Amino acid sequence: MNDKYGRTINYLRVSVTDRCNLRCVYCMPDDGIQKLEHEEILSFEDILKIIRASAELGIKKIRFTGGEPLVRKGIENLIYETSKINGIDDIAITTNGTRLYDMAGDLKRAGLNRVNISLDTLKADRFKNITRLGNIDDVFRAIDKSLAIGLEPIKVNMVVIRGVNDDEVFDFVKLADENPLHIRFIEVMPIGEGERFKDGYISSDDLIRSISNLTEIETGQNSTARVFERQGAKGTIGFISPLTCKFCTGCNRIRLTSTGTIKPCLHSKEEIDLKDFLRDERHLKAILEHTIFNKPLEHHLEEAISQSQKKMFQIGG
Ligand code: GTP
Ligand code: 5AD
Ligand code: SF4
Repeated sequence: MNDKYGRTINYLRVSVTDRCNLRCVYCMPDDGIQKLEHEEILSFEDILKIIRASAELGIKKIRFTGGEPLVRKGIENLIYETSKINGIDDIAITTNGTRLYDMAGDLKRAGLNRVNISLDTLKADRFKNITRLGNIDDVFRAIDKSLAIGLEPIKVNMVVIRGVNDDEVFDFVKLADENPLHIRFIEVMPIGEGERFKDGYISSDDLIRSISNLTEIETGQNSTARVFERQGAKGTIGFISPLTCKFCTGCNRIRLTSTGTIKPCLHSKEEIDLKDFLRDERHLKAILEHTIFNKPLEHHLEEAISQSQKKMFQIGG
């Protein structure tokens, strides 16, 4: 369905957990997060009710996020049940990739179409420093396996931070030259732990200027990234600029948090708790319809930061 500004909303991002097996320095505190009680997290049955009602309103694409979605037990079943819902034609996940190697086959069989993998460095020791807990070989193996079994296109998200990993930008460009991978450089957002890296912020425009032979590709207005190809390259290079370029005018998405609130925008203050409406399908659908229709025109990141809203691992990126 359309919102009141005429944007077609057809993409629901579902955060299935705020837990993660890593502790990326710009995302999670060193000592982890306060664990939510089991009852606070939506059950798969409830998530499916919400996806079904959303599909009736025109949602076609589902992305499961976290925290790390693959730490939630039974995620394959959730994907399988989602794939049977009328109207859903694209199911994706955004993952850190560390558990993907073992799970990729089952996830694909369950109906997963593609994966976006977060990877901020290609160096083993640096990966350890950034994620505090991860082993980079797990991610490399997962990428190879995903390519081999056709969980494609694979997008690789790299958050670029000056003094942390900006010296590797060209290594990632080379990675896209040599492999069918879609690298996306993301501007660091000063949300939660990201605040500590404010001084390391590099704008997408500066990065674009520093890379040679880029030709922009038409992506359609819903894309979070500006995407470029390089002559002879197997993959592409994209730039996600949540700070310098607000892609709100073409935004097609709403978000469900793991505790059951619906957020019409990544940075919106408004959150509607759907838990109170899960017993009555008609009511649930009406609340979703209301939320979609009233999706704000744009986000106000500055306001969201000052009000210390939910963190990235709670919203699902
Ligand atoms: P596709 O579905 O493949 O287009 O991926 P995506 O870019 O929507 O999803 P992904 O989970 O890979 O998100 C990558 C980054 O895009 C996130 O970390 C955010 O920085 C940014 N992003 C995603 N959705 C939004 C949004 O609605 N608003 C803003 N400001 N940023 C977003
Ligand atoms: N700024 C930019 N991107 C972030 N992510 C998590 N925290 C931040 C932040 N502060 C990214 C992850 C992942 C995506 C889902 O969100 O790296 O690629
Ligand atoms: Fe986990 Fe992703 Fe946050 Fe890293 S960025 S701690 S992988 S949720």
